[in-house]
Amino acid sequence: MWNHGTLERNSIALIVCILLTVSVGGLIEIAPLFYLENTIEKVKGMRPYSPLELAGRNIYIREGCYNCHSQQVRPLRDEVERYGHYSLAAESMYDHPFQWGSKRSGPDLARVGGKYSDEWQRNHLIDPRSVVPESIMPPYANLARNELHVPDIKALLEANAMVGVPYTDEMIANAAADLMAQADENSDGAADVAARYPKAQVRDFDGDPKRVTEMDALVAYLQMLGTLVDFSTYEPNSKDNIR
Ligand code: HEC
Repeated sequence: MWNHGTLERNSIALIVCILLTVSVGGLIEIAPLFYLENTIEKVKGMRPYSPLELAGRNIYIREGCYNCHSQQVRPLRDEVERYGHYSLAAESMYDHPFQWGSKRSGPDLARVGGKYSDEWQRNHLIDPRSVVPESIMPPYANLARNELHVPDIKALLEANAMVGVPYTDEMIANAAADLMAQADENSDGAADVAARYPKAQVRDFDGDPKRVTEMDALVAYLQMLGTLVDFSTYEPNSKDNIR
């Protein structure tokens, strides 16, 4: 029979046994989290991203903004004082992939929505040093020039729905129209966007009413960050939070 001494002297057998133990332990700890309804507390206000916000989010990922910015306020006093209420798990429940980030060369952006005007955001993205002289952030002036081109926004919503984001058939069917309508408060579809996506901000984000640009999408996304949950009424572990 094997005893401990034999096992410790036989590296292959030891590795196999370690892997077995770790994977069984891991499965028992992690697997239930995928099935437990209460893993993520549902919180009032959270909704799927509107098509324009989702397109902006894809630009955020494409440009690698996550390399310098986190989107996760930790429950530490200095962070809460600087950025606001700590991030809730529910606030990233519709994120595929999540944008928590791992590096803060720039500030956390989880609650940047509404902190600045659209004009500030535009000027900052076009030339960060025009508004923050000491900034080391690179300029993204091309975003204001590039027409927003989303090959298949409907498919993007469908893909998110497939992994559990509650997009309705109506949202998916109107995705292309909603994408354009959110960037123009005078459009016929403006009211529909606001009705389908509560708290969606509908306006010309890039200051150029004639075109819908990548700047429109990215600024719409930034201005939404952290604005969905109403923290003036939120209380941790309260049944009132749950919709
Ligand atoms: C090389 C690192 C770097 C990258 C990449 C970067 N940023 Fe920044 N960002 C910064 C730094 C540093 C600041 C703080 C100085 C300033 O305001 O410009 C900042 C500030 C900001 C702010 C203001 C935050 C606040 O609370 O004042 C926003 C919004 C922002 N960045 C958005 C973006 C977006 C969107 C992208 C991608 C398109 C991006 N950043 C890419 C470094 C970066």
